[in-house]
Amino acid sequence: MNTVGSLNEENHEINLSCYIDSFPILKNPVRDKRLVYLDTAASAQKPDIVINTINDFYKTEYANIHRGVYWLSERATVKYEMARKKVAEFLDAASETEIVFTKSATESINLVASSWGGKNLSTNDEVIITELEHHANIVPWHILRESTGIVIKSVRLDDNGCIDLNHFYELLSEKTKLLSLTHASNALGIIPPIKEMISAAHSLGALVLIDGCQGAVHQPVSVQDMDADFYVFSGHKLYGPTGIGVLYAKSNILQDMPPYQGGGDMIVTVSTQESTYADPPLRFEAGTPNIVGAIGLSAAIDFVTNIGMHNISNYEDTLLKYGREKLGELNYIKFYGDASNKASIISFDIDGVHPHDVGTILDQDGISVRVGHHCAQPVMQHFGIAGTVRASFALYNTKEDIDLLINGVEKVRSIFT
Ligand code: ALA
Repeated sequence: MNTVGSLNEENHEINLSCYIDSFPILKNPVRDKRLVYLDTAASAQKPDIVINTINDFYKTEYANIHRGVYWLSERATVKYEMARKKVAEFLDAASETEIVFTKSATESINLVASSWGGKNLSTNDEVIITELEHHANIVPWHILRESTGIVIKSVRLDDNGCIDLNHFYELLSEKTKLLSLTHASNALGIIPPIKEMISAAHSLGALVLIDGCQGAVHQPVSVQDMDADFYVFSGHKLYGPTGIGVLYAKSNILQDMPPYQGGGDMIVTVSTQESTYADPPLRFEAGTPNIVGAIGLSAAIDFVTNIGMHNISNYEDTLLKYGREKLGELNYIKFYGDASNKASIISFDIDGVHPHDVGTILDQDGISVRVGHHCAQPVMQHFGIAGTVRASFALYNTKEDIDLLINGVEKVRSIFT
């Protein structure tokens, strides 16, 4: 396996297709066809290094962590804490104590809403979200509103699905206590002007949470450079296992947050009447955590950092451009979120065909795309549609995959005309 793919000297395009062989599932036919997996925005396929690391850990090093004095437990604890350090380096956090392992990005946002929000927000405090958000960055704030009386304001999108910055500045005020914003829209791929919005929110004293599910997988992230107060992502979208998520929070903020759940491993002392709590991050990791998930995520981070997040980003941008060009040659395609600064996601409809029909027919040819509202109903409401067809590209996709998508789309269209 090459370590950084190959560079086409003529057009300076990086080619990562040498890594396809690292993904065993891509060798298995689907419905007797070559699998064309274009749903990485929902979940990424797993490379051998992740599968083997999990397998080997269970076979040779597995035990519960933080509890045992015996070799296996100490070994497993070291591996788990090394995974935390790896995540901290991946996000460019100041310290691994700023990294909390959760079960998902969704749980990370719920943790912030419940713990930080429950302690710091009260009636008429304002939380700003946007119409671009995934439900995971909307519903926790609705739930928090029920107990605190906070006000939720939502930034409108423009005709392309980009953030309406004028509206953002209209909503932002000294009442704003939190801006909770996607790093990249899962439904459209659009990347908001994160740094500008973070800096504007900070200038009025608000904190900022960034939902990095589609951001951290597509480009290098420095939480210190962007100055996010909270940053969340999920392992399974970064070629890691399911059931492991990450919450980054600045030390001083995390230190001041009350526990989210109670149980073993998050305490210093317990009597029947009273508990005292551990320092972060353990304060937020009650019970036996997803030990194997964290170690699998660590292997996934090794995998992507060996390739280089810049290289992944460049390669995915090449696929995005090629896909947009090829689909754009079909005059019956309508694009949603057609902007310049995007993660590798294309959302579209075929004129006269329901997205679910498109997805079902493409699947007959082994092509996996997501169809529907993508857990982002406000985006669909903005465009006045029920759903879209979404093709998302990863480091294991190729231009040939996109050509097969185009053939599939032409076939769908021919069935309906
Ligand atoms: N949030 C995931 C998606 O966008 C599941 O498909």
